[in-house]
Amino acid sequence: MHHGIFHSLMKGRFAGTTVALVLACTPAAVPNSDSATPQTGDAAAPVTPPAAANRRSLPAREANDPATAVGIRGAVTSAEAQASEAGLEILKRGGNAVDAAIAVGFALAVTHPSAGNLGGGGFMVVRMADGRTAAIDYREVAPGAASRNMYLDAKGEKTRGSLDGAKAAGIPGTVAGLQLAREKFGTIPWAELVAPAIALAQGGHTLDSFHADDLRGGVERMMKLNLTASAAIYRKADGSAYAAGDTWKQPELAATLAKVAADPRAFYEGPLADEMAKQVTALGGIWTAADLKNYKAVLRDPIVFQYRGHEIVTMPPPSAGGVVLRQLLAASEILEIDTKPWHSVDEIHLYVEAARRTYADRNFLLGDPAFVNVPLQKLLDPGYLRDRLKDVDPLKATPSSKVAAGMTLGTGSTQTTHFSVVDEAGNAVANTFTLNTSFGSKVVIPGTGVLLNNEMDDFAAKPGTPNAYGLVQGEQNKIEPGKRMLSSMTPTIVVKDGKLRAVVGTPGGSTISTTVTQVVRALIDYGVTIDKAVQATRIHHQWMPDQITAEPSLDPAIAAGLRERGHKIEEWDSIGHANCIEVDPATNGYRAVADVARDGGKAVAY
Ligand code: DON
Repeated sequence: MHHGIFHSLMKGRFAGTTVALVLACTPAAVPNSDSATPQTGDAAAPVTPPAAANRRSLPAREANDPATAVGIRGAVTSAEAQASEAGLEILKRGGNAVDAAIAVGFALAVTHPSAGNLGGGGFMVVRMADGRTAAIDYREVAPGAASRNMYLDAKGEKTRGSLDGAKAAGIPGTVAGLQLAREKFGTIPWAELVAPAIALAQGGHTLDSFHADDLRGGVERMMKLNLTASAAIYRKADGSAYAAGDTWKQPELAATLAKVAADPRAFYEGPLADEMAKQVTALGGIWTAADLKNYKAVLRDPIVFQYRGHEIVTMPPPSAGGVVLRQLLAASEILEIDTKPWHSVDEIHLYVEAARRTYADRNFLLGDPAFVNVPLQKLLDPGYLRDRLKDVDPLKATPSSKVAAGMTLGTGSTQTTHFSVVDEAGNAVANTFTLNTSFGSKVVIPGTGVLLNNEMDDFAAKPGTPNAYGLVQGEQNKIEPGKRMLSSMTPTIVVKDGKLRAVVGTPGGSTISTTVTQVVRALIDYGVTIDKAVQATRIHHQWMPDQITAEPSLDPAIAAGLRERGHKIEEWDSIGHANCIEVDPATNGYRAVADVARDGGKAVAY
């Protein structure tokens, strides 16, 4: 009953309202003499001399697989083809993976508006060839006028205010985050990285069927809220819906992007920023010019840990993603889950038992480390995790009502943690960004083309009651002015023997961290290629609601076996949209996969 929003989100297509894009490039790579013609070869591309460590040849690729691309010089996979191509173009012009990621990010704000954004936020995990790594935190923050009970009615019940309309919007981080990435790691002039997005918005671009559907869905949701002006941007002038093959132009967004191209600070200070704050207030929101001016993206040390001979580089708080990934991978080691056949009753049972315990920790112990004391070291500690898993019954589900967070919190001050990273390989970026639910708050700031996020719902608007993803969270994640709301986004880079092995990420709200876990485990525990890892059935558990959620492709005999052990199983059409890249161990070449079967997108490589 509590999970109404959760169910309506989950039952429908719950794949693409956050965008994870991954890129990898190796400027020094050249084909081995025996390599085949690259799939997206570019005869004019300059060939740089071979560096022995980076010698690559083309990985095998299944015939007629539209989801997978292979290459030896670089690869991009994202939720929309023209955005992927924009990134590939930057790589071909000599840009590095971070340059290309910035171009893809801006392009997705135009071509994938349900989640790509200027008005939202996200996280980028970077690993450079020289071993430098970074976690760029460009999560939205609560406006200065936000308060703990701002989404409760007179009776103290949660309203839709954290999801619908301008008041649901946190202060956006995307422009600041991409700028920080450019400043720290980029090589190509900023304006050239925004240019492809401007061209796509100004000149228009051709809609594929996924995106025509997406726009239609967005317009329906906007009209339900009487947001006619917003809807007008995503449908034709005569009110009819765009169809696949139509050209779609967004002149106002193009003009905003041009201002950002000229000066990224224009989004946060000056006439554009002042106008945005004014318009959001007029629409019932609470932004001020000072909120925008004070917004800062943060460069963080990623969470880095060892897993079965690999090094995992992932996102720290205010995302819960890295902590969940670490705990679930540690559980695979502690419970020896890798010895159970992939997708057997034993394997799924143990993974689910670990997940229910991990999400109890996630929901009550994590929050923005600038505001609350996050016991990060303990949550990542193998000794703590071993204790946590002691009561797992190998044959019987533990009811979630009997599972609480693994520790209680004392009152303490703010805590910041640091991890050290060394290594070298190709440059890589994993970036996940979002408006939260599809098309965010559904409000476009008039005259700017900027669609507003509804990320405020990721806070515990009423601690102890579920949010849009059914997450029941606690005081650590209550609303406070200037605070970042807890996230599940898990952009992740896998390193083996000091060299890049894979880049992984996905949307999917609370299911993000378990999807990333399953892809990483498929690669490492079960040795499958990235395309098989991405295509495989996804299974999720998040403590509460106390149920396994699984895609329809779960074998009915396995489902029956799980029910016998006391698990309830809920079927969801589709979980996540994992656009991932691996370095093929056999050839050292790149294999990129877009999660096309679930929600479109495109992998490209050269
Ligand atoms: O940060 C989070 O965890 C959520 N706002 C992500 C939302 C999401 O993935 C929606 N996509 N399906």
